[in-house]
Amino acid sequence: SGHWCVVPAAGRGRRFGGDTPKQYLRIGDKPLVTHTLERLAAHSRVAGFVLVLAPDDATWTRGLIEVLGKPLLIANGGAERADSVLAGLRALPASVAMEHFVLVHDAARPCVRAEDVTRLIERAVPAGGGLLAAPLRDTLKRADGQGRSNGTEPRESRWRALTPQLFRRGELDAALAAALAAGVAITDEAMAMERAGHAPLLVEGAEDNIKVTTPADLALAEFLLSR
Ligand code: C5P
Repeated sequence: SGHWCVVPAAGRGRRFGGDTPKQYLRIGDKPLVTHTLERLAAHSRVAGFVLVLAPDDATWTRGLIEVLGKPLLIANGGAERADSVLAGLRALPASVAMEHFVLVHDAARPCVRAEDVTRLIERAVPAGGGLLAAPLRDTLKRADGQGRSNGTEPRESRWRALTPQLFRRGELDAALAAALAAGVAITDEAMAMERAGHAPLLVEGAEDNIKVTTPADLALAEFLLSR
């Protein structure tokens, strides 16, 4: 009765630099992605995982894997995040009906809190889908392309999209496929859903559910996970 979770981890982590893809950088005794998977696997409402990897990623056995007793399937990702998530959706077991709600969570967000996953499920399922998000705290500037600010966005109506995001399997599949067919760059699942005419529910989540993007983020994640 729980939700399957697609975990895209097929990115190259170009912004991080270095040779090790960021999902395999170690935090304490484990790679970042293992922290992420174990956090989610410990949640009673998470049923299993599709981990989406770069096709040449030989780190994982393409066989039977479990995380804390929950099944983990492997799918091969694509060029863009949307390609990877769509491949993950298509690798879900047939038992996950098209009407079922599926979680999508970045491999690079190891600090996600159980209570946020619970709140997302409780609020977004009755709303037809949604995402964790955090209100903007800083003032948001519009750049003019020449390094100068030529406007200030109203902060009250701006949110930062986090993960997990929760949508119906069939609707998200259709929305991602449509965005890819249109050649639109999609940076999160909710964006594809918006394009398809849905209005994803914004569910406020903890600020410290950070996406590890730079070495400074890795140090912060290490601190947050040690608490
Ligand atoms: O690049 P960004 O930090 O937005 O990536 C978010 C997540 O999407 C990461 O976990 C990354 O591995 C994944 N990703 C992917 N396939 C891509 C690009 C990113 O699975 N082509």
